[in-house]
Order: sequence, then structure tokens, then C-alpha cells
Amino acid sequence: MKIAVTGSEGKLGSWLVNKFGFTPLECNILKPEEVKEAINTVSPDVIIHTAALTDVEYCQEHPKEAYEVNVHGTSNIVDVFTKGLLIYCSTVHVFSGNQYFAYSENHKPSPVNVYGFTKWAGEALASFGSQQTIVVRTSKLFDLAYLAHGIKLLQDGITQDYPTFITRSFVYTPHFIQGLLKLIDLRETAPNIVNIAGNGAWSYYDFWGNVAIELGYDSSYIMPRTIDNGELSRPKRGGLSTDLAARMGLPIYSAFGGIKAVKEIM
Ligand SMILES: NC(=O)c1ccc[n+]([C@@H]2O[C@H](COP(=O)([O-])OP(=O)(O)OC[C@H]3O[C@@H](n4cnc5c(N)ncnc54)[C@H](OP(=O)(O)O)[C@@H]3O)[C@@H](O)[C@H]2O)c1
Repeated sequence: MKIAVTGSEGKLGSWLVNKFGFTPLECNILKPEEVKEAINTVSPDVIIHTAALTDVEYCQEHPKEAYEVNVHGTSNIVDVFTKGLLIYCSTVHVFSGNQYFAYSENHKPSPVNVYGFTKWAGEALASFGSQQTIVVRTSKLFDLAYLAHGIKLLQDGITQDYPTFITRSFVYTPHFIQGLLKLIDLRETAPNIVNIAGNGAWSYYDFWGNVAIELGYDSSYIMPRTIDNGELSRPKRGGLSTDLAARMGLPIYSAFGGIKAVKEIM
């Protein structure tokens, strides 16, 4: 089975290509001819579509561009990839974050920012066509590269504040990918939306406090922030329920397990 990846130089895509050995689909997804050539050359059975504009503030300021990449770019893939399995990587930003601590696959999206709107529209576009599509929503991926800046500040003894009012189901990127691979194995019976995320939800303050303690730094440098510094356009409660994934037999990991895994490679 040949698995190809869009956005192969991104945070998730580079793990999939460089560490898991999947084939990059080298194309600008806004250019239908490039998309066609890349897909026809690789001829994948599965495409993991990670390419997107993901910077929340940038999307907010450039809504047309965000729409082009996240929606139109997705439809360019669907136009060519008519057989096989398309995994559309999506986000908890499709939800408002005002209602639940953990959003399930059945909750109705109601995004509060342009990024979330375009990812939700991308989910819909990805589901058109004759290929099978599974929308995989996750909440917050992390790895050593993601943690590096905060770790440096801890090493330098610089106080950092993190919001107590924004929660996510943090998951270590390789753990997320383990879930994704199991889902691909189970594709014939899989539903069309599945959450793959860390078990439970932590605030950024909780997360960084645990990072500091587990990695052996002084956690008193991690301070709680209760005042909104402009995160208004982000879903506050961004936990995702992993009940469906667990019932399907996907491996479920905790953020704590992810932090421990990071420690092992440091
Ligand atoms: N990271 C998370 O915590 C998280 C959480 C929830 C969902 N997701 C979803 O997971 C996916 C991957 O996220 P990520 O964190 O890996 O994002 P990322 O680091 O921003 O990677 C996205 C990749 O897409 C590429 N891209 C943008 N426009 C493109 C175009 N027109 N044609 C081809 N490639 C293009 C980017 O290339 P350039 O950099 O060269 O523009 C980048 O390499 C996204 O769909 C995101 O919505 C991520």
C-alpha cells in the first residue's frame, strides 16, 4: 500500500515523510496541473492531506488566501484522486470551544475564526467525490521541536505565563501517527470522522507545568495567566473526545506519555 503526504515539509508532514517513510506529494495544491502530475506519478492508495494554511492570525488577516489553500486546494486533490483513501487532517478549531470540555465527532461545528471556517469547509470538500474520505480531527500536536523554545526559557530561568483558560487534548505527534496508521488499517469499517487526540484535556498552563516537572526544570517559572491577551479568536475549550477511537481499537495516548517520550529522546 502506497501512502503519500501533502504538506510534506510541515510539522506533521515532515514526521510522516522523514520518520515514517511515506512518499511526499510534491506540488502546490493550488495548481491543478501540478496536483494531477504528482498524484499520477506517485499513484498512491492513501493520501494523508496535511497541507494547509495553519497560522490562525495569518488566516484571520488573509481570509481569501486561507480559503484558497484550505478549501480550493483540497478540492484540487479530490478532483484527481478518485480512487483510494483520503485522510483529511482537521482541527478542533472547527468548534467554538464555548460548549463542551471534549468535543465528539457528533458535535456540530461552529468555528470562531477564519482558520476554523476554512478547515470545516475543507472537510466538506474532501468528502465529495468517489474516493473514501476520513476526516481526522486533532487538537494540539507537540514534539521536541514544538517544545524547544519553552525549554530554552526554562533552562535560562525565564518566567513564562501560559493561559489557564485555553484547553487542548495535547498529543505527541508520533503517538497521533500511530493512531492514524491503525485507522488506515481499519479503513474499510471506519466512519467518516474520527478524533485522534490525547486522552483528556489540559490547559496550556497545566501542559507546560507538566513539561517542566517531567523534564526536570523548575516549574515555578511556569506562571498561570487568566487574562486574555488576544486569544479571543481561538476556541477556549479545545478538548476532543477519544471515545470513538478507543471503541475502534485505536491506541490512545496521554499528553503525559508524550512528554515522557520526548524526555527519552533528549
Ligand atoms: N499542528 C497541530 O497542532 C494541528 C492541530 C490540529 C490540526 N492540524 C492540522 O494538521 C495539518 C498539518 O498541520 P501542521 O501543524 O503540520 O501545519 P504546518 O506545519 O503549517 O504545515 C502545513 C504545510 O502545508 C504546506 N502548504 C501550505 N500551502 C500549500 C500549498 N498551496 N501547496 C502545498 N503545500 C502547502 C506548508 O508549506 P509552506 O510552509 O511552505 O507554506 C506546510 O509545509 C493541517 O491540515 C492542520 O490543519 C494540526
